[in-house]
Amino acid sequence: MGSVNRVDELEPMIELSKRRGFFWPSFSIYGGFSGLNDYGPLGTILKSRIYLEWKNSFARIGAIEIDSTDLTPEAVLKASGHADKFIDMAITCSKCKSRYKLENIIESNGGSKIPESIEEARATVSNGNFKCPKCGNLLADPYEFHLMFEIRSGNETMYLRPETAQGIFVNFKLLLNYNRGKLPMIVIQQGKGYRNEISPRQGVIRQKEFNMGEAEVFLDGQDGNSFIPGGDDIILLHDMNSQDHRMDLSSAVQSRIVGSNDHAFFMEIVYRLALKVGVDPERLRFRQHRKDELAHYSRECWDLEVKINDTWLEVAGIADRGTYDLSRHIKESGENLYYEGQKIANVIEPSIGMDRMIAASIISNMKKRENGYSYLTFPADIAPYRVAVLPLQKKDGLLEKARDIFSKIQEIEPYSVFDESGAIGRRYARQDEIGTPYCITIDYETLERDVVTIRERNSTLQIRDVKVETLLEFPLFLKNPALKKFGSEQPGQ
Ligand code: GLY
Repeated sequence: MGSVNRVDELEPMIELSKRRGFFWPSFSIYGGFSGLNDYGPLGTILKSRIYLEWKNSFARIGAIEIDSTDLTPEAVLKASGHADKFIDMAITCSKCKSRYKLENIIESNGGSKIPESIEEARATVSNGNFKCPKCGNLLADPYEFHLMFEIRSGNETMYLRPETAQGIFVNFKLLLNYNRGKLPMIVIQQGKGYRNEISPRQGVIRQKEFNMGEAEVFLDGQDGNSFIPGGDDIILLHDMNSQDHRMDLSSAVQSRIVGSNDHAFFMEIVYRLALKVGVDPERLRFRQHRKDELAHYSRECWDLEVKINDTWLEVAGIADRGTYDLSRHIKESGENLYYEGQKIANVIEPSIGMDRMIAASIISNMKKRENGYSYLTFPADIAPYRVAVLPLQKKDGLLEKARDIFSKIQEIEPYSVFDESGAIGRRYARQDEIGTPYCITIDYETLERDVVTIRERNSTLQIRDVKVETLLEFPLFLKNPALKKFGSEQPGQ
């Protein structure tokens, strides 16, 4: 077994994803369209499984879930501040017409201070002597660029939602009623968000339409102690002054690095999810937003970042939105979005960019064996297929026996795969490449004694003489004590 390919991690992930059907560029027969990607068959299952892990982690702490619309009236996004403030600064090269996010140009020239106004942006550009990365021409004239997609509906202006969060805030009254007036209340929502990105790139890393997993945690009072982090994971925290700290999240609150226990608790939930989907902890850190990069609604924010190709990529943001959104909607709608009289709930928002979490999981789990074959070490809970059934041969009744066992397995584990073609080694390799943790081989022993061989993906070890009846006991091979001897991951935990 070898190690992760650290030379370029994005390209192999994109290549594998296209070839094996995790995701591929949308509309490719028309030449593709930057910033849009489709999930293929395997990616769609993987996405559902990762979403389920996310939902489960919130359901375990009592979350409720809603599903609101993507189309959002202008009034809502005026109130939320997005219509006026959800703006990026851009710059277009006058010679080659390439368009860039100003922030990226400043950062690639060694700067970090993001201009807060167009006037400041103009000053930064005229002092900066920034060159077009493509053609070397001197860049000038930054401008503001709205990130929301506008849609006309009759006489009304609507937008494709830039975040799922607003669908939760506007339903606060109904949700609180549903929750019998009790806070804290955790509401989650899975769905698409849309951003008119200036320079979409690198497959699913920066997209115009993307999958989000957001939670709005409505807290009673200001003390920040409704939830207490309990984990002892030592995590790298990169604070707003670029200081690194390695500590557990509870100590981070005591050391006043993270603002509250509530905030730290939800950072921990998101961190654990990343571990659960198989992201290597060595690749993870939290980075605190500087004051000049905080979103207009946020008073403190920590991004969970994953190291890919030696650069840090945001996969989630855990923001303290305070009372900002509810106060704005109270003012603009005139509705009573208070609790217990005139109190306004404080909000912590753990928000996950699911496509990036999925890409991070694929990259982190891509390994190579010494023979050059690649395999994906997905934890069994998220592997698209958890089991493959492989008849050793097609003759002598083995195929029929294998089909019979397969149909029984499918009753228990519908996402199973049957593969009868090619040499057994090739079939193992095919399953390894998509991360199937267990292959069940049906051979002559199966015909004679009703026993099968199970081969585990990471170790490639084989366990023989597993009785078919044991195999079919729920929850199947995943809980079979005999598998413990593999010593690799124990799925289904
Ligand atoms: N709701 C968080 C975000 O839009 O990034």
